Amino acid sequence: MGHIAYINGRYVPQSKATVHIEDRGYNFADGVYEVIAIHKGQLVDEEPHLVRLRRSLDELKIGWPVTENALKVLMREIIRRNHLKEGMIYLQITRGVAPRDHVFPEYSKSSLMMLTRRFRPFDPEVIAKGVAVITIPDIRWKRNDIKSISLLGNVLGKQQAREAGAYEAWMFDENGDVTEGTSSNAWIVSKEGELITRHLSNEILGGITRQTVLKIAREKKIKFVERAFSIEEAQGAQEAFLTSTTSFVKPVVKIDGEKVADGKAGPLCRALLEHYGTYMDENASNP
Ligand code: PDD
Repeated sequence: MGHIAYINGRYVPQSKATVHIEDRGYNFADGVYEVIAIHKGQLVDEEPHLVRLRRSLDELKIGWPVTENALKVLMREIIRRNHLKEGMIYLQITRGVAPRDHVFPEYSKSSLMMLTRRFRPFDPEVIAKGVAVITIPDIRWKRNDIKSISLLGNVLGKQQAREAGAYEAWMFDENGDVTEGTSSNAWIVSKEGELITRHLSNEILGGITRQTVLKIAREKKIKFVERAFSIEEAQGAQEAFLTSTTSFVKPVVKIDGEKVADGKAGPLCRALLEHYGTYMDENASNP
């Protein structure tokens, strides 16, 4: 059975879902998005995702296409129509359709589209195998805190990673410090055993998985610091990993071809991965 998508008020087979050629999302990447995981048929971390969506929209002065409560209903409906148990919802809001002109249109109605994708159920053993990353200069714009659909820098970086046989590219700033991955946040456990992820700023996306992992760390009394770290520090770290809605907590076992420690998932990363699995189970049982 094909997937059902939602586009501006209608549920249609995904292959039949189309947008106007003058949608500003298409012409200018003038829009924002969210990716929300579905576990056991429930949305994971729905509220924080909606908080971030609200912020992205506000920063770009894009209006809500429907009320927030209506959006919650629509998301549940698309899960239901697709019989989705494990996977994700991709939702995108753009400034809408208007004759092409850089300036915001005086009248336009924001466009809303949603689609779902199925995933294999969460399996910590598969995830714990770990992945390789490469490092590349961060060539993106200066508002990476907004979850905007302008992702060309990220797309080029991810492609470079794939061509190098790596899963992700960690981008670095002019100081040689890691900002984040092209679609994930970056973490290390330093030589001294400190759990580190970069502090929030306009240079990175405030990942919801990052936020949840920090919450888990706080609850489990695992000490952490939010600060920048260099590529050298990452290469000499005890552990490295990345987080995102679709990658969960994924060990990074190689950076630019060099093994991180013994080249296997580290104990703290494994523990956080297990805790994240439990968190998702609990989240799903309290919708
Ligand atoms: N990516 N940083 C960037 C640049 C991202 O695109 C993402 C998410 C993250 C992690 O955020 P979160 O934990 O909220 O997923 C960090 C999504 C999954 C994507 O673009 O598909």
